[in-house]
Amino acid sequence: MLTVEGLTAGYGPLVILRDISLKMLKGEAVAIVGANGAGKTTLVRALCGLNRAHGGRIVKNGIDITGFPAHARPRHGMAALLENRRLFGEFTVRDNLRLAEEAGRKHRGRDLRFTWDDICDLFPMIGERERTRVELLSGGQQQMVAIARGLLLQPDLLILDEPSTGLAPKVVKEILQVLHNLRARGMGILLVEQNVGISIEITDRAYVMSLGRIVHDVQGNEWRSFMQDERLAKAFLGQ
Ligand SMILES: Nc1ncnc2c1ncn2[C@@H]1O[C@H](COP(=O)(O)OP(=O)(O)OP(=O)(O)O)[C@@H](O)[C@H]1O
Ligand SMILES: [Mg+2]
Repeated sequence: MLTVEGLTAGYGPLVILRDISLKMLKGEAVAIVGANGAGKTTLVRALCGLNRAHGGRIVKNGIDITGFPAHARPRHGMAALLENRRLFGEFTVRDNLRLAEEAGRKHRGRDLRFTWDDICDLFPMIGERERTRVELLSGGQQQMVAIARGLLLQPDLLILDEPSTGLAPKVVKEILQVLHNLRARGMGILLVEQNVGISIEITDRAYVMSLGRIVHDVQGNEWRSFMQDERLAKAFLGQ
């Protein structure tokens, strides 16, 4: 579903990511872990088209999207929750979601993966607060609106950059539940998360990044006991 080959990318002329290669199958849930500054967010941004690739290829469902602008990528099944949620605070929940809903409908036609009713089932808060201005919601509620907006783009791959950061444990639990539900529906998930416990709970395997490169490809039991492995824990902590 997603193949990245030899991707080099950064900010303007500055190269941060070097020779990144990774593969995700349809419906797989994969984590990206690594120390602060390892390049996780830069990788997410490059996948979404927010940072230009200097070299290499990003292939999504058989189509080379490497040169496609960010706004063209949802059409190829990609949606992302970025560190900054980019919601419009002065608009209502419903209005924030309407644009994504229309864009999703445009490229999926009637064959929607997520209807409005699905969204209200996944996030009961959204149905209850649809007329509330987003700026009046808590951080956790805003995070849910941002995830819902991604889903209304009708992706087959949801990319999340640190979805739990700054949220209370109760809200983190609710978001985890949503991610579990999405997995059960066959959604592909690429999760960047500092909290390894959360990552392990949601994903089957992981890539470990350090200094802009992927340094380990961790599977199965090795992933489930990740922090007990000194070599992996060191790579994760950037030592
Ligand atoms: N806008 C920018 N311009 C130039 N360099 C940047 C920019 N944003 C990040 N960098 C650099 O890119 C490198 C990787 O940063 P990135 O934000 O991708 O790391 P990260 O793994 O997401 O870290 P964290 O865990 O702290 O979120 C760092 O050296 C950082 O200084
Ligand atoms: Mg980051």
